[in-house]
Amino acid sequence: MPKIAIMGAMPEEIEPIIATLHDLRKTEYADNTYYEGSYKGQEVVVAYSKIGKVFASLTATILIERFGCEILLFSGVAGAINEDLSIGDLIIADGVCQHDLDITAFGHPYGYVPEGDVCIWSDSVLRQVAKRIAKEKGLTLKEGIIATGDQFVADPQRKAWIAKTFKADALEMEGAAVAVVCHALDVPFFILRAISDSADMDAGFDFDAFLVSSAKTSAVFILAMVEKIK
Ligand code: ADE
Repeated sequence: MPKIAIMGAMPEEIEPIIATLHDLRKTEYADNTYYEGSYKGQEVVVAYSKIGKVFASLTATILIERFGCEILLFSGVAGAINEDLSIGDLIIADGVCQHDLDITAFGHPYGYVPEGDVCIWSDSVLRQVAKRIAKEKGLTLKEGIIATGDQFVADPQRKAWIAKTFKADALEMEGAAVAVVCHALDVPFFILRAISDSADMDAGFDFDAFLVSSAKTSAVFILAMVEKIK
């Protein structure tokens, strides 16, 4: 059975997962805490990175290189772009891109740097597993592009620009960073988000109001993924 990494960005995103683990062991490393344990007999390592792309890259790398994880599942919340998405809805990333990566001054498209890709595609087998679970549970699961950047977006104009430029359905602050690390280290990854806000003028208020409930919705689904992968 492959060792599975489960990552979030904030404590609220991983606490519902840690609460279910058996044989819990804590390791302090690189200014963060890593939780090893088992869920229904499957070995997992869980951590929250702190917010943003740099912390997310660090944590993903450590989960793979130091803890030997062979699959990475990300669980958390996102701002909705697609109007079909409401607070609490689930979306999986088929692809992730960095909306704040900009060397267009050199004639490149937004989100692109030489030797990289605008979009990194998540593991299709893990996406199929998720779709099967959603069907079994009668849940609606949207699949689409998730745009990542080191910005909490609470601005209709910025949101519209990200939607148009990347054809993105949702946005957050870590997914593409995890994807870059997993792609480089050849580790299958999966990004799941539950909507906490709509990246508009009310986003700050909605985020505070719905973080815990949406994070829990995502975490419960991720645990079903772990069980199925096992
Ligand atoms: N994660 C959840 N909501 C977000 C938003 N509006 N901007 C960036 N990341 C988010």
